[in-house]
Amino acid sequence: MIVRRVARGDAEAIVALLNPIIRAGGLTAMDQSFTADEQRAFIDGLPPGAIYLAAVEAGTIVGIQDVLPLPDGTGAISTFVRLDRHGRGIGRTLTRATLARARQQGYRRLVALVRADNPTALAFYQAVGFRVAEIEPAVPGREVRLVFPVTAGDSHALPRP
Ligand SMILES: CC(C)(COP(=O)(O)OP(=O)(O)OC[C@H]1O[C@@H](n2cnc3c(N)ncnc32)[C@H](O)[C@@H]1OP(=O)(O)O)[C@@H](O)C(=O)NCCC(=O)NCCS
Repeated sequence: MIVRRVARGDAEAIVALLNPIIRAGGLTAMDQSFTADEQRAFIDGLPPGAIYLAAVEAGTIVGIQDVLPLPDGTGAISTFVRLDRHGRGIGRTLTRATLARARQQGYRRLVALVRADNPTALAFYQAVGFRVAEIEPAVPGREVRLVFPVTAGDSHALPRP
């Protein structure tokens, strides 16, 4: 497996990975399938400082992870691994590469917003070093906010005891 930056030519492959996850339901806040054009527009419109990586196996994109910059050195991370390739370390490999870039680029913390009814994602982010910071009473359903302190000792990043 290699990890590389996403390019606009990856749009078709990304929607082929993403749309079955959206259609499966309950795994992401996204509820509408994407077209390749919409995905291309997303790639073209990535703001400075964004990170968007693809895990590629035998020429096929099997996972994607993005970090979108928020104020104050925070990045919002999302991870999607092909439904038929879960549990093989793809998400972990992507996260290692993303964290290295996030450090280089000066991010202070990464946050993941995960549906409270998505135990796989909650377990995944905690397994790769995120900690639950808060549970948001969002409607519909609750979202759990997990934080990874990119900067050691970043007190803002850690959940309060
Ligand atoms: C969450 C997701 C990205 C994890 O990717 P993955 O490649 O399957 O995860 P990995 O194989 O790298 O797992 C890393 C660790 O996470 C934990 N983990 C992953 N899946 C798990 C599961 N189903 N149950 C419990 N722990 C799990 C394990 O600790 C695992 O380490 P281990 O294999 O050494 O035990 C993937 O399940 C996915 O794409 N889900 C659908 C989309 C989604 O929910 N995204 C998150 C919202 S942004």
